[in-house]
Amino acid sequence: GAAVEVDISALQPGEKLTVEWRGKPVWIIRRTKEQLDDLATLDSQLADPDSKRNPDEFTPVYARNTWRSIKEEVLVCVGICTHLGCSPVDKFHTGAQPSLPADWKGGFLCPCHGSTFDMAGRVFKNKPAPDNLEVPPHMYLSETQLLIG
Ligand code: FES
Repeated sequence: GAAVEVDISALQPGEKLTVEWRGKPVWIIRRTKEQLDDLATLDSQLADPDSKRNPDEFTPVYARNTWRSIKEEVLVCVGICTHLGCSPVDKFHTGAQPSLPADWKGGFLCPCHGSTFDMAGRVFKNKPAPDNLEVPPHMYLSETQLLIG
């Protein structure tokens, strides 16, 4: 399949871009400092904090770290739930959700069966989704040019 080149120079902290790659939505998110700091505090709540399950399928070698990314602040992941393929939505677009703790910091909720993922696409414990969101193969051509695929 064709690789997709993306200019991320205009992406601000807290913003998300969605591009299509091989018919799948790929999210590119520039995380804020606060969001990055939160990632380090979540391990005990996550099903697979170190992305050890099916790493060849879901987490390329260069994303096997706390942030699941090459650049600490930039998350690149496929926006498709690893349970049955629905599209998770951002915390900020979910509105009031009785199933979520009030202090949940995000990032994504799958509306189909309630799986939740953090800002690195790591799935929370006791949710139907078995795996973290897929990090697609990608690399940087320059500081701001990303190549997916
Ligand atoms: Fe996402 Fe079932 S498809 S929780």
